[in-house]
Amino acid sequence: VKHLLGIKYLTQADIHLIFETADHFKEVINRSIKKVPSLRDITIANLFFENSTRTRLSFELAEKRLSADVVNFSASSSSVKKGETLIDTVNNILSMKVDMVVMRHPNPGAGVFLSQHINASIINAGDGAHEHPTQALLDCYSIREKLGDVAGKKVVIVGDILHSRVALSNIFALQLLGAKVKVCGPKTLIPKYIEKLGVEVEGNLQEALEWCDVANMLRVQNERMDISYFPSIREYSQQYGVNKTLLDSLKNEIVIMHPGPINRGVEITSDVADSKQSIILHQVENGVAIRMAVIYLLASKIKHHES
Ligand code: CP
Repeated sequence: VKHLLGIKYLTQADIHLIFETADHFKEVINRSIKKVPSLRDITIANLFFENSTRTRLSFELAEKRLSADVVNFSASSSSVKKGETLIDTVNNILSMKVDMVVMRHPNPGAGVFLSQHINASIINAGDGAHEHPTQALLDCYSIREKLGDVAGKKVVIVGDILHSRVALSNIFALQLLGAKVKVCGPKTLIPKYIEKLGVEVEGNLQEALEWCDVANMLRVQNERMDISYFPSIREYSQQYGVNKTLLDSLKNEIVIMHPGPINRGVEITSDVADSKQSIILHQVENGVAIRMAVIYLLASKIKHHES
């Protein structure tokens, strides 16, 4: 495998290999070894055509900890603003001898499209409402770390499933690893194809939370929807938001996850986001080890191909 374009292209064995490699890098980081020499001869371009905090910084840190050379590109301050196309932009960057491209783009399938036109390895850092594979990997890795295993765990993904690349990648990864998955949210934000993926829909949040071991609370993606999808944010938070009273009323102590950025007071209140049941910052921490693992494994294919 030369690229990481989506979880749907991975096998269970691929994910286990990524986790074992991430375990190694996490141990290295925890020993306060900030840098390993593995990727000294690799150059990586981080191309962000959409805003990001966690994914962009996490990839950059992962690359630097592997000793790769890194160039960063942000569409908002580039010649994309003058009308340059995606292919022209990427080919110009690749002509500077870049080996690997990490790309976030608003169009679903942008990574697949690019992989058909260029030679470099591509890692999808989020393509529209399609996939966000490294987020799903770090989410499943965080569940494994917290609960010992992903297999057999019950995970509910709550909120704006329709516009969420995190939801789709999580569904694929969780199912590959043997978890049971439900989604919960307003009907207008649940895609019609969801049951074809073997995912049950639970309309009632309390029921969903009583059923699960883990609740992954998604952000309402206002930037991807028109106002007709849901009547109001207040109504959303009343029906699908988790507050401390609701969390404490559950018979089991569930794990709370969120991919970020959080709309505090909408999908979760601050006392839930910052509670001891929340592993949100562990997810972010694990993102670096997971991305080191993915980059390292893909780069070893480049090196193998060159030698
Ligand atoms: N989880 C995530 O993708 O966050 P960013 O948009 O900040 O990268």
